[in-house]
Amino acid sequence: MVTRRVDLRSDTVTKPTETMRAAMASAEVDDDVLGHDPTAARLEREMAIIMGKEAALFVPSGTMANLICVLTHCNVRGSEVILGDYSHIHIYENGGISTIGGVHPRTVRNNEDGTMDIHQIEEAIRDPSFEICYPTTKLICLENSHAHSGGRCLSAEYTDKVGELARKQGLKLHIDGARIFNASVALGVPIHRLVEAADSVTACLSKGLGAPAGSIIAGSTSFISRAKILRKTLGGAMRQVGVICAAALVALEENVGKLEWDHNKAKILAEGLNKIKGLKVDLASVETNIVYFDILEDANITEIELSRNLEAHGILVMPEGPLRIRAVIHHQISESDVQYTLSCIQKSISTGGNGGS
Ligand SMILES: Cc1ncc(COP(=O)(O)O)c(C=O)c1O
Repeated sequence: MVTRRVDLRSDTVTKPTETMRAAMASAEVDDDVLGHDPTAARLEREMAIIMGKEAALFVPSGTMANLICVLTHCNVRGSEVILGDYSHIHIYENGGISTIGGVHPRTVRNNEDGTMDIHQIEEAIRDPSFEICYPTTKLICLENSHAHSGGRCLSAEYTDKVGELARKQGLKLHIDGARIFNASVALGVPIHRLVEAADSVTACLSKGLGAPAGSIIAGSTSFISRAKILRKTLGGAMRQVGVICAAALVALEENVGKLEWDHNKAKILAEGLNKIKGLKVDLASVETNIVYFDILEDANITEIELSRNLEAHGILVMPEGPLRIRAVIHHQISESDVQYTLSCIQKSISTGGNGGS
């Protein structure tokens, strides 16, 4: 029977720590739909400072955070947003901006590093003089770190350039910063600087930071006032929400400092995988906590077979399509877990599709 468990499916799988649970139990709370929860207010104040914005708002999830931001910027049906073809908003959020908000997505190709070419963004902006046919471009969205490219980081300089283009064209800039803390640590640049050019930014508390739930939206005071109304409309306003926010405050205090170590463990994993015959990792893509690895054809094992073999050893990973697997590091993965994972993968690869378990 396997007793060890190494959960590398995502950084969303962490369990609340004892300190978080204690903070949740003793949190000071009140009705936050009426705007009176002191713990939520404290978290929002702290996050607004970290983001360098006037105000912040706690929401239940990253998906709702992005939806609220896009819909707040694009408040007229038939508005268009320019975003990456492999952005989380476009691929993994149920098309909510269209189905709920009537916002049309215009995609630009995401490069391997998560950026979009600025001239392609510019070309995608609609000519307002032809509004009889075109939707109206209102918003550009970036994602930092960019999950689908393996958690790669967008520099402040790149973001500034996109912000400059947005301003010149009378558009707004939103950043999906689900993992902006990871990007900040990896680049060695404070979050407020990374998002300086953005009109709105979201950050997930329940990913690398390890809180059980919740995301933050940050922006100007007037933007957050409008976002708050939309949060209520979408059913995302919660009563004694300080119970959850208390855990997020602990996450900020205890776990931001662990992200650098998470990135180191991801590099150890990536380098170890690259040494296993039959596997390949683009080491340059491992800037933060996400590792994608490819299985070479001659390894004679599929991503499903390898994942199943690993599961029998208590290791969970995410198969990501033909011969590709994703593993994500978080603060509840130790270096010994990484070494154990590498040895189980090595064993599984050397025994082929039917062995290793
Ligand atoms: C880049 C990015 N944005 C947004 C989200 C959505 O967050 P949530 O799962 O809290 O809705 C995710 C979730 O994995 C993500 O990776």
